Parts: sequence; C-alpha cells; structure tokens
Amino acid sequence: MVHFKVNGVAQSFEGDPEMPLLWYLRDILGLTGTKFGCGMALCGACTVLQNGKAIRSCTQQMGTVGGLEITTIEGLSANGLHAVQKAWVAGDVPQCGYCQPGQIMQAASLLAEKQHPTDSDIDDIMSGNICRCGTYQRIRAAIQEAAKETA
Ligand code: FES
Ligand code: FES
Repeated sequence: MVHFKVNGVAQSFEGDPEMPLLWYLRDILGLTGTKFGCGMALCGACTVLQNGKAIRSCTQQMGTVGGLEITTIEGLSANGLHAVQKAWVAGDVPQCGYCQPGQIMQAASLLAEKQHPTDSDIDDIMSGNICRCGTYQRIRAAIQEAAKETA
C-alpha cells in the first residue's frame, strides 16, 4: 500500500506497483487534464509535478509514489490564476490544446526553479514537450510574461 497526495488530497493505492501514474490519475481519479501521448517519456503530454518538479507520469510507476506530492493541471491553482495560466490565456497560446496541460506544468516547474529564464533556458527545458500545432513561439513569449509577474 502506498500513501501519497494528489492536488493536496491524501490518497492510497494497493494495486499493481507497475501501473503508470498517468493511468491512476486519469482512470481512477478521473483527472483527465493530464494527457497520454507517447507512453515513453518522449512527448511531455503527461507532465505533472512531483514535489514541485515536472515529471512524466506515463513512466512513473505507482510503486514509486509513496510519500510524494503530485500536482496535476487541475490542482495547479484554485481558479486557473497561476501566473503561467494567466499568461497562456493572455497570449492565446493553445491551438488544438492537447499538449497544453503538459506544457503549462513544465513551464510552472521551470519558473519555480528559475524566476528569470532566458529564451535559451526556456528552449532547453521545454524541448521535451512536443506540440504538433507548433505553438512554441507563443509558449516562449507566455513564459517570459509569466516570469514578469512572478518577479
Ligand atoms: S505520454 Fe508521457 S511523455 Fe508522452
Ligand atoms: S496545441 Fe495542438 S499539440 Fe500543442
């Protein structure tokens, strides 16, 4: 039995320790904001925060989450008012939207670690989050806007 928290709520899990965290979040908790893309830690669609740092939930196994705090897009802020979320709306970043929860969680992790990232920092950290619609320029601009708010 593993005990952990998701979006501040205590949870426990007793099933297959090899089950991906992504399955648990989507199929058991119904938190479908976190998306499935590749299942191999290659696209970033499934990005969530683990103790504040971005991880790929498709390859994180349930047997390893004991004692951890997991945050999904649903728990990033109470009203969608995290600086990154506000900048995303102001910059009209999403196109189809599928990759965007992962992009936002990765960006939130970046800004928590580095308040004033350069464009190069952003490109480095965000390079593992693939957007088939090519919203990369707007993502970079929105992260710079969010960085101003968190200054
Ligand atoms: S679904 Fe996890 S990185 Fe692609
Ligand atoms: S907005 Fe469509 S995949 Fe990124």
